[in-house]
Amino acid sequence: MSAARAAGLFISFEGIDGAGKSTHVEALAQAFRSAGRTVLLTREPGGTPLAEKLRALALNEAMDPLTEALLMFAARRDHLLQVIEPALARGEVVLCDRFTDATFAYQGAGRGFDREVLATLEHWVQSVDALPAGQLRQPALTIWFDLDPGIAAQRLAGARVPDRFESQPQAFFARVAAGYAERAASDPARFLRIAADQPREAVWQAVLAGAKSRGVLP
Ligand code: TYD
Repeated sequence: MSAARAAGLFISFEGIDGAGKSTHVEALAQAFRSAGRTVLLTREPGGTPLAEKLRALALNEAMDPLTEALLMFAARRDHLLQVIEPALARGEVVLCDRFTDATFAYQGAGRGFDREVLATLEHWVQSVDALPAGQLRQPALTIWFDLDPGIAAQRLAGARVPDRFESQPQAFFARVAAGYAERAASDPARFLRIAADQPREAVWQAVLAGAKSRGVLP
């Protein structure tokens, strides 16, 4: 019990559907465990019983863009308070498959919903007790799997029954990809861009090298 407890670390994973992020979330979890860290693997929308119910609604039921954005942020609020904040307070590594950048990319850029409203919701939802007033809970690092929407569409074709997002036309994903690029450009210190058009092992090596160069992995 002599070692000082590690500080909590919050990392999110982003990219359009088909970009191939999910296998790397699991692999990075293993890398952190090997480095002696306790890892919490989670996802958005979801990560709590309530947020998983909201996920099922958001991914399967028809609704207008404001309702969709509100459900994403409602799920996020519950997930932050019930799961993410306590894990960070315990000094764990929280690896989250999607977070708020997905809302800006999908609801903002993809659906064309007002980004200022999203920024207001982001402010409300990501203000948490552990941080000084005015400071928002954000990932320390966001690993962004950047892939051409045409390649992503080929990868997804016939993979499974598509949900409300996966069934969108390629033009939607072109807007989502542009939304991610815009968000990354606005916060380059947080975003680690991974060229996701390479073979899986090369993508993994890029993730590993990037995590090391950003100082989150020893
Ligand atoms: P995804 O993370 O791709 O999970 P799976 O691999 O199980 O399909 O699915 C989540 C979907 O939700 C994805 O299409 C993106 C969408 N989404 C939003 O539209 N807004 C958000 O804020 C979040 C977190 C996800």
